[in-house]
Amino acid sequence: MEIIHLSAECYPIAKVGGLGDVVGALPKYQNKLGHVAKVVMPAYQTKFLQENEFEVVYDGWAKLGFRTFSVRIFREKTNKLGFDLFLVHIQGLLDRPLVYGYEDDTERFLAYQIAVLDWIAQWEHSPDVIHCHDHHTGLVPFMAAYCEQFRKLNQVPTILTIHNAQYQGQFGWDKLHYIPAFDLWKTGQLDWRGAINPLAAAIKCVWRVTTVSPSYLDEISHRANGLEDLLAQERSKSFGILNGIDNEVWNPQTDPMLTKNYNARTVESGKKANKQALCTIFNLDPEKPLFTFIGRLVGEKGADLLPEIFYNALTTYSDQINILVLGSGDPQVEGRLSQLKDVFPGNYNAYIGYNEELSHQIYAAADFLLMPSRVEPCGLNQMYALRYGTIPIVRRIGGLKDTVLDIGDGGFGVCHDQTSSWDVGHAIGRAFDLYTDAKHVKEIRKLIMQLDHSWDKAAQEYIDLYHI
Ligand code: ADP
Ligand code: GLC
Repeated sequence: MEIIHLSAECYPIAKVGGLGDVVGALPKYQNKLGHVAKVVMPAYQTKFLQENEFEVVYDGWAKLGFRTFSVRIFREKTNKLGFDLFLVHIQGLLDRPLVYGYEDDTERFLAYQIAVLDWIAQWEHSPDVIHCHDHHTGLVPFMAAYCEQFRKLNQVPTILTIHNAQYQGQFGWDKLHYIPAFDLWKTGQLDWRGAINPLAAAIKCVWRVTTVSPSYLDEISHRANGLEDLLAQERSKSFGILNGIDNEVWNPQTDPMLTKNYNARTVESGKKANKQALCTIFNLDPEKPLFTFIGRLVGEKGADLLPEIFYNALTTYSDQINILVLGSGDPQVEGRLSQLKDVFPGNYNAYIGYNEELSHQIYAAADFLLMPSRVEPCGLNQMYALRYGTIPIVRRIGGLKDTVLDIGDGGFGVCHDQTSSWDVGHAIGRAFDLYTDAKHVKEIRKLIMQLDHSWDKAAQEYIDLYHI
């Protein structure tokens, strides 16, 4: 099958969070299964663009309302990613350093979607499926089905994967003229509660909806930032497919970013060497258990509670634990997490910012990874932690519930039910007790490193779903 993945992020080209990881891996594993999976994404001004070789495959124009933009599509020449990568360059709109966060993000992603459809509609053949990821590509199913200009594509099956229903990309009806001419009877397909809602439009128009874990699919029929009724209504065409991880990128045995490589057999000495190196950099004590948090500092991740949680833990277990944070997001949370450095020097440290290499080093060095998420559609961090022998401490929600089993139930992680400082504090206490049982910790590390979260299974599940 020929599968076209459309996404705002794709690792290693541009990544903000897990969406990038998924779109950088799933197509590769689909290709390994003998299919032809391609990624078409915006051409941001990234290092990847400057450091690699491309050829131009399309030169054209895109109309966005009354404005016209020149469009150029590049193909990465070496195919070293394991899939064909196409970058959509739209001068003045997409050629900027960041993926998101501009005032005209609506215009940017709409122009990208229109340009992609313009291009694909000019191919001699049509792809077997167009696979859209999140709201930035959410108007593609509507436009492919109903816009006159893309008539050729109206029978191409479209799939939407919801990575996070919190973000929907809504905009006002005053921007309706951005969307190329379509059958006006279909206007209602764009609407959700008085606005044009790309995620809702995609849920209505696609042939199949998927969520990134089975539990998240159950949850969003009840709570999905206003889309719960729609999702409940469209449940019969929706499927929960648990994400995998790219075992080639996330492999402690070969990971070039680590101080020392290791596997399940050598995990004790491997972890020790990585912990030693990291603790030296961050002025922490390698003899003490190292707790960490890696991620976006936003409410969904429970980040607003972290300063209080860490303060309590460092007071309760004074001088017996270490905590290291890697994250960026809400400036207030960033500030409070930074302040703690002066309160607990030698036991606490934080790196505020985004640092891919450091994230690998922390997964390898840490003993425990905290994920007190309020919403977690899948979560990849806990799967990376498992692969690196780091014990996850997670709230039982979404994908965390589907991947981590509590030690009290014969499992390998520490689970709690609420995102509250009390619940997380209690979980940290249980982890601290576990750490004193060195034999049990060793057994768990060996076990979790051998759990199989590779993409092989999920990549096939998507293929099965495309046969519709
Ligand atoms: P989400 O996509 O909601 O942010 P996931 O758990 O799916 O959460 O994926 C997060 C990804 O982003 C992981 O690869 C994680 O290591 C990475 N990440 C998050 N914050 C940072 C950061 N500050 N520095 C480096 N990597 C980060
Ligand atoms: C989203 C979700 C996260 C998920 C990721 C990849 O960013 O918040 O839980 O793991 O997408 O699907």
